[in-house]
Amino acid sequence: MISNWSKVESVPKSYIFPPGERPDDNLIAPSCDHSIPIIDLQFLSSQRTELINQILKASQDYGFFQLINHGVSEDLTTDMMLVAEEFFALPMEDKAELYSDDQSKLCRMKMSIDYAKEKVHYWRENFQQPCYPLQDHINDWPTNPPRYREVAGKYVVEVRETLLLILDLICEGLGLEIGYMKELVSLEQLLILNHYPKCPDPTLVLGLPKHCDPHILTLLNQGQVPGLQVYKDQQWFSIPPISNAFVVNIGYIFEIISNGKLKSGVHRVVTNSEKARTTIANFIFPSLEDHIEPSKKLVDTTKTAPLFKNFVFKEFYISYLTDVREGKDPLQHYMVRD
Ligand code: OGA
Ligand code: NI
Repeated sequence: MISNWSKVESVPKSYIFPPGERPDDNLIAPSCDHSIPIIDLQFLSSQRTELINQILKASQDYGFFQLINHGVSEDLTTDMMLVAEEFFALPMEDKAELYSDDQSKLCRMKMSIDYAKEKVHYWRENFQQPCYPLQDHINDWPTNPPRYREVAGKYVVEVRETLLLILDLICEGLGLEIGYMKELVSLEQLLILNHYPKCPDPTLVLGLPKHCDPHILTLLNQGQVPGLQVYKDQQWFSIPPISNAFVVNIGYIFEIISNGKLKSGVHRVVTNSEKARTTIANFIFPSLEDHIEPSKKLVDTTKTAPLFKNFVFKEFYISYLTDVREGKDPLQHYMVRD
């Protein structure tokens, strides 16, 4: 395991992907023609229908969009990025105290994705922490940097508002009532800080593999350093960082609940040799015990048959981790076949 990234002069063997799985020369993938839609919430009250249509189209075509004028204060977003960067800059011994390989432990520091089980490792460290309701979790969070709990606590509360608003706008677009998701499943929230150190040879490694998120909705602050790519029409496209914007993407569970009307966005992370990259992701997901199935309101047995089976989220989450590790399609076990 790499304990001091800044001293690494060449890529260790256990981080090199076989030819065909590497980013190779696709590090700076084209972004202009296919850059994902930018949704501006500034005029939400006067342009609600139009914005809902734009969000829905982006969620169907890409499973991704960027969000500007989203209501989360710029100062808070900047502050959150600062404490996240300070956190990763802590001495390795401090971070090691928070480290765990136990998949069932929700609040922990990790390297890569599943360091103990995977064949090749990803160029990434991360810290994940449940955050809703805040008072149930905040006492498990890091105490160093000293401002961490205060800033992250405020941040997750504001970001949740935006996530719930987007959920409602999408539900409205699908013809479901406002608050529908809240009735259907519990809306848990997870905060993940990702750190992708500078890499001596980014053509050989990945920050994260090709994947879709196993949740309902993701809201990402990707900072100013590029690295996130979306897969569309058999090609990778970079998502350019936009100042004070969030990247939003649809997860598998939303695709399933919408009975395939929304598409989960396929993405990966590449690294670079110039600058470390820190990102802050917030995920909304069901509780492990929640039953998931295509919404009864979107399934009409005579016209639109359900495309997915009923399952318990925990079962999905476990098979997802294995499938991503083995490069298989996590939806394969849950599709209804004729
Ligand atoms: C993730 C993810 C993207 C990024 O955490 O699932 O895709 O740019 N992150 O860090
Ligand atoms: Ni992701």
